[in-house]
Amino acid sequence: MCGIFGCIARNAKAAPIIHAALKRLEYRGYDSVGIATIHKGKIYIKKDSGKIDDVHKLLNLDDMPGSLGIGHTRWATHGAPYQANAHPHTDCKGEIAVVHNGIIENFSELRNELEDLGHKFKSKTDTEVIPHLIEENMKKSLGLVESVREALKAVRGSYAIAVISSREPDKIVCARMESPLILGIGENAVYCASDVPAFLPLTNKAVVLENEEIAIIRPDGYEIRRITDWSLVERKLETIEWTAEMAEKQGYPHFMLKEIHEQPQCLRNTLRLQDKYLDLMATFLDRAQEIFLVAAGTSYHACLAASYMFSKIAYLAAHPVIASEFIEQEGMAVNINSTILAVSQSGETADTLEAVEYARLRAATILGLTNVVGSTLTRISRVYVVQQSGPEIGVAATKTFTSQLSVLAQLALRVAKIRGKVGHRQMEEIEKKMMEIPDIVERTIKENEEKAKKVAKKLKDKKIFFFLGRGISSATAMEARLKLMEITYIPAIAYPAGESKHGPISLIEPGLPVVFICPRDETRKTIVGNIMEMKARGAMIISVIEKGDEEIKKLSDEYFEIPGSLPEILSPIAFIIPLQLLAYYIAVEKGLDPDKPRNLAKSVTVK
Ligand code: G6P
Repeated sequence: MCGIFGCIARNAKAAPIIHAALKRLEYRGYDSVGIATIHKGKIYIKKDSGKIDDVHKLLNLDDMPGSLGIGHTRWATHGAPYQANAHPHTDCKGEIAVVHNGIIENFSELRNELEDLGHKFKSKTDTEVIPHLIEENMKKSLGLVESVREALKAVRGSYAIAVISSREPDKIVCARMESPLILGIGENAVYCASDVPAFLPLTNKAVVLENEEIAIIRPDGYEIRRITDWSLVERKLETIEWTAEMAEKQGYPHFMLKEIHEQPQCLRNTLRLQDKYLDLMATFLDRAQEIFLVAAGTSYHACLAASYMFSKIAYLAAHPVIASEFIEQEGMAVNINSTILAVSQSGETADTLEAVEYARLRAATILGLTNVVGSTLTRISRVYVVQQSGPEIGVAATKTFTSQLSVLAQLALRVAKIRGKVGHRQMEEIEKKMMEIPDIVERTIKENEEKAKKVAKKLKDKKIFFFLGRGISSATAMEARLKLMEITYIPAIAYPAGESKHGPISLIEPGLPVVFICPRDETRKTIVGNIMEMKARGAMIISVIEKGDEEIKKLSDEYFEIPGSLPEILSPIAFIIPLQLLAYYIAVEKGLDPDKPRNLAKSVTVK
């Protein structure tokens, strides 16, 4: 997730306005920053890696001529956060500059084609194909707007872009596909931005672009057209009533809720990862003699789920180990034949890094899954995959968890393919569902949010919770317990349901809430028995079920329904959603701040 901004003013210098706006977008990423302006037929660019303030100290971002320009603050996706990879990116002649937020899926093919035509690339980013495509179109005597439109027809993926050209210095052309883009309409300037806070101190009049729309902005107005049929779009100006703080959260009261709602988009991003890295990692996993999945906190729960995924469809044993226990538990067994797949959202968790470093010194192969390009984990991994969730601000991990699950499921599928263990039809079915997951999650949020609010009111004063699931759902149960505990401070217990008879059941008293995770998989029959056991002792049953599971519905005091059936290995991605919402709304009911739970930190860099 990056932040883009464009400004075209009547009588003002654009650079200081862009610089200030980028500061307000810095929460979207801060790996690098860059601004391009046009003055007297020439493009000026300043960009570098690092936070905006540091780069500004070095380069003075305000000191750039021109009343029109674009800017970018980067959350690295393709290419490490070096100066050359910082946006804006330009064409061969330096006449076109582009900023982009999103992922161009087919950039490798496009880059090869453009290189064959003689284009010279300076970065490793997916974005750089865009200015070169535009350049190619302008060579064919198309104007800037047409050239951008044609370029966008060639790219696949997600984007919010802003483009300027010294050959047509009277406009900014911007466009959107999946990544957000909003126009801000001021008295003497027009802006485009990834998010409202960027221009909110300048104007509260906004127009939201929809997918596959291009906007041409000029100092005195704008025009929006559909990329596909070039029809003109008439859209009313909205007046934004948000305060700056509300705007940063896009109107949501907390980052956690915003991030819960971002999950469909984050999951879509995970379906666009580059094949070559996933395939390479799958090859390493397939060949490994022994695999440890090492992580902390929520990432550990993703590993726990992944151990079921690898076993179920790839027939591969992968042992999940809590990072802080790894050296004690497995240390002596690690050797040149061991493969460690470390999972860390931040890529900086001290326990995970210590485990990885230990294994590396014992000649083990290190693979990494993280959300942060350039993090320590990416630097010490032989191969790493970046999950593309964008920055997560809420301390309780939500969107990064489901994205980790999606990437791990894709890896399991690839290993399964290499091994040829799973039949063609089953494989196709899982792959099809994989593509549907973002929509299923979107519906799950929509259909369960009100219910979560209602159930939260009912449960907010409970003193203890149980979370139970069987098979892969025991990982979902653990993660649901962690969400509740960390933000509501209610003690909670999570167990594989089968194990609950061996101790925890003694705690059950009438009215004690027991949450059951019940997808329709092989564990479905047995879990009914576990529900009966708890019900017989007066527990209050809250279940997460697949839509239409009447039997469990009848046994439950409250239930959340997941629309659509899912293969077992994908079920945690949807089944965790109502329980994230429940934890969030209980915290809110209790008057707590879910974004900043006491004693916790987003990234724990001490052992
Ligand atoms: C902290 C955070 C958790 C996170 C864990 C591991 O405890 O509060 O949300 O799951 O660290 O972090 P990592 O960045 O390694 O995934």
